[in-house]
Amino acid sequence: MSPTVQVERKHAAEFSWPPQGVTRAPYRLFTDPEIYKLEQERIFRGKTWNFLCLDIEIQNVGDYRTTTVGETPVIVTRGHEGKVHAMVNRCAHKGALVCLKKKDNVASLSCVYHAWNYELDGRLKGVAFRNGVRGHGGMPEDFDPKQHRLRPLRVESFCGMIFGTFADEIEDVETYLGPEMASFIKRNLGRPLRILGTHSQMIHNNWKLYAENLRDSYHATLLHTFYTTFKVNRLDMDGGITLSERKWHHLSFARRAKMQEAAEYADAKVHSANYESALDGPGLLEAWEEFDDGITHSIQTVFPNMCIQFTLNSLAIRFFAPRGVDQTELFWIYLGYERDTDEQSRMRVMQSNLTGAAGLVSLEDGCINEFVQRGTRADPDQSSFMEMGGREVESERNSRATETAVRGFWYGYRNIMGF
Ligand code: FES
Ligand SMILES: [Fe+2]
Repeated sequence: MSPTVQVERKHAAEFSWPPQGVTRAPYRLFTDPEIYKLEQERIFRGKTWNFLCLDIEIQNVGDYRTTTVGETPVIVTRGHEGKVHAMVNRCAHKGALVCLKKKDNVASLSCVYHAWNYELDGRLKGVAFRNGVRGHGGMPEDFDPKQHRLRPLRVESFCGMIFGTFADEIEDVETYLGPEMASFIKRNLGRPLRILGTHSQMIHNNWKLYAENLRDSYHATLLHTFYTTFKVNRLDMDGGITLSERKWHHLSFARRAKMQEAAEYADAKVHSANYESALDGPGLLEAWEEFDDGITHSIQTVFPNMCIQFTLNSLAIRFFAPRGVDQTELFWIYLGYERDTDEQSRMRVMQSNLTGAAGLVSLEDGCINEFVQRGTRADPDQSSFMEMGGREVESERNSRATETAVRGFWYGYRNIMGF
């Protein structure tokens, strides 16, 4: 072991959380390469379910879709008889990526390096020159293809989403989510879906800053000027935060019709509350009420790497993958329902302008997480302060002026990392 590695190992083992618990997150967590390595092992290859793709992305036999679980490249396929398989995208010969495209339809999976060929479920089916050429060379007599396959992941589908895990011992996805989270996902995704568009972006921050940001209901109407100016989303709307039983996942919900303008907006120095602007194209925000529970805004996270957003009629799945300690790739899938009329699809697409890399709202999140990364990297021993809404990690069903879901993330993170 090199001296550098030795120092790093010791350093991660010595890490201890501040005594104030999950109201603090040490800045070291966003910059330390050794902690980053441990996360790959304990979170992404540990006892978690990770979003892989949608069922409808691999509808036909032979369809595949590539993705990553943490940094590990993964292939998801639709095998014979319609069964979904997931496996590490790494050839059992010398480790090359086997599938190179984002998606395709193939009869089998073939590695370009030396043409090892795999079944759609990852079993090795053929090895080029296995018996040599003209009686010479080739694999040893005892070469057994059954011993060499693409490493499988366990997969499960829930409400049209395919999840994968490396863990042998983990509950099913619905139990992992817990009843409250599962039932709200059924509300949003429990009918045939249609993909309206996708895109991805690189954000220049540790993946956990994005996981925090999704759970940070406190920032939305402060940072996002558009929300407040056009009264799309404000904390004086009726709403709250539900944490899952284990506190790892959360749901933030609000009802736009129930906005009672609060004096706090005028009193506080909320930079976004004082613009008098009107939209030239009010059609951007034309919306219809889809559910009879009155909830018009929801952000729901699933630990560790995804969220489902429903803002007015803009339904989207976001998932993110670490690309190094200070880089994260963020993916967006904009959705509608199969049953939608053309007009409804048009309205969903129009509203999707609010989010994404160049969106009217969420472009700020791409920046703000980087500002945190840049602001904190010089002082790994300092910590953030998160006591908005108290110090507890409990649901707060009457307000979103709280950091309880962020504390919930750190609660889950500490559980699984053993910190
Ligand atoms: S690395 Fe894939 S066949 Fe050699
Ligand atoms: Fe945001």
